[in-house]
Amino acid sequence: MDRFALEPLLLSLRGLSFPGLALAGLLLLLVLCLRARRTRRPGEPPLIKGWLPYLGQALKLQKDPIGFMRTLQKQHGDTFTLLLGGKYITFILDPYQYPFVMKNHKLSFKMFIKNILRKAFSIQMDIISDLNNELHDCYQLLQGKSLDILMENMMQNLQEVFEPHLFKTTNWDVTHLLTFCTSAVFETTFATIYGKFLATDRKKLITELKDDFLKFDNKFVHLISDVPIELLGNTKSIQKKLIKRLTSEKLANIQGWSEIVQMRQHILQKYYTFKDVEIGAHHLGFLWASVANTIPAMFWAMYYLLRHPEAMAVLRDEIDHLLLSTGQKQGPGFSIHLTREQLDSLVYLESTILEALRLSSFSSIIRFVEEDLTLPSETGDYLLRKGDLLAIFPPLLHHDPEVFEAPEEFRFDRFVENGKKKTTFFKSGKKLKFYLLPFGLGASKCPGRFLALIEIKQLLIILLTYFDLEIVDDKPIQLDKNRFLFGIEYPDSDVLFRYKVKS
Ligand code: HEM
Repeated sequence: MDRFALEPLLLSLRGLSFPGLALAGLLLLLVLCLRARRTRRPGEPPLIKGWLPYLGQALKLQKDPIGFMRTLQKQHGDTFTLLLGGKYITFILDPYQYPFVMKNHKLSFKMFIKNILRKAFSIQMDIISDLNNELHDCYQLLQGKSLDILMENMMQNLQEVFEPHLFKTTNWDVTHLLTFCTSAVFETTFATIYGKFLATDRKKLITELKDDFLKFDNKFVHLISDVPIELLGNTKSIQKKLIKRLTSEKLANIQGWSEIVQMRQHILQKYYTFKDVEIGAHHLGFLWASVANTIPAMFWAMYYLLRHPEAMAVLRDEIDHLLLSTGQKQGPGFSIHLTREQLDSLVYLESTILEALRLSSFSSIIRFVEEDLTLPSETGDYLLRKGDLLAIFPPLLHHDPEVFEAPEEFRFDRFVENGKKKTTFFKSGKKLKFYLLPFGLGASKCPGRFLALIEIKQLLIILLTYFDLEIVDDKPIQLDKNRFLFGIEYPDSDVLFRYKVKS
């Protein structure tokens, strides 16, 4: 889960009523004009504030993140501090310096995330509490044998989601790609992690939950901004409604909780004996983390495949070969069972997904500076100030032409070499340890990354095996930079595609 808000603030302002807007504007101007008076101290990185109080360089960065960062890098080197949405953030652009961020105990992820959890999900987290540590221990249930179980259930749930389509006529069905991916990912992930509603109107309940979730997710950037939630129109009520849907009382009507949900629920009940709403808030945070990035990631993987039929043909071939070699010829119904090793062997499939993530991930890895400290650098050490933020900005690396040839192009086989996974990428003549970071790094690295990749792979395998797929809209689409700095970007508009059962 992530992060902080600069652009979100702007979006929040858009969502306000006039009195709210005026009050918020006044408050911001007052508090943050004070912050803008900061000057660079000896030994600190170059300080770039811009002329806008509070916002600083936020608008320029949001408009063209890669271009603007490159310009600043040329002018100031690999390390500099920007004023962005009221925060002073020191960016580290040299990938060989990343390990410094991970190892330094004066840089805290927990301190950084605490406010976000409170604002976005209403989670009151004491960062030194045992609850926090115990919840963290649960992440092991997203690996090993527990992951095998999740994977098996996920395949079954996916097949259930797509079953109705299989028995349709063999005519083309035209639909919006993002809407399609949203439903498929939300329904499958929810069923796999939280289980299935016991009621007979299951389909209706999951659709309602998905619709509420989408309303909440739409407000997400507003929620994590500095604007008080009370000033954000109906955002608070949407958040509350969703939390209520995920309390212990409501979850009792869902069958088949995964191991991780069982363990989290057990821990949460121990700490919040009489506070079911607090438990619902934690579940909302986990649910959000499990779908909010997977949906757009799935969208981009599908979108690029639809736009690149030559890549789709190679993937189909790779999957067909595996199914044939494991004795799973395509029959009339769903019958695919693949182990993790078998999924892993599909190198072109994985490369396609990684390439889609490379192009669409605009996550930053952010830490709170707990004490003044010295940042070692080849061009001289820099002092960092207590209370500031430190950020690694992977999109610049993901779009670096020295690391990835023609970085703006989608090349489905970029992460394959001699028929195997390619893991060697170079910069300045040296092999890079970190070259692709859509899942973060160090203390905050995404614990759901294995499941996310499995889900997207399984979804693509089902679609490519059982359906013909074609893009209908030929319009070019771009990344919508709304969620800039905190995750996989959504497209700026939806596109139509069509699918039909293979004859
Ligand atoms: C393509 C899909 C996904 C992407 C790109 C992604 C990305 C990330 C990133 C970048 C972070 C780190 C946040 C930070 O540093 O501020 C993160 C954290 C997290 N992710 Fe994911 N994620 C994905 C899917 C999932 C799934 C499927 C799950 C759960 C099953 C999940 C669970 C989490 C959790 C619980 C955290 C917080 C970890 C902590 O508290 O330290 N994610 N994710």
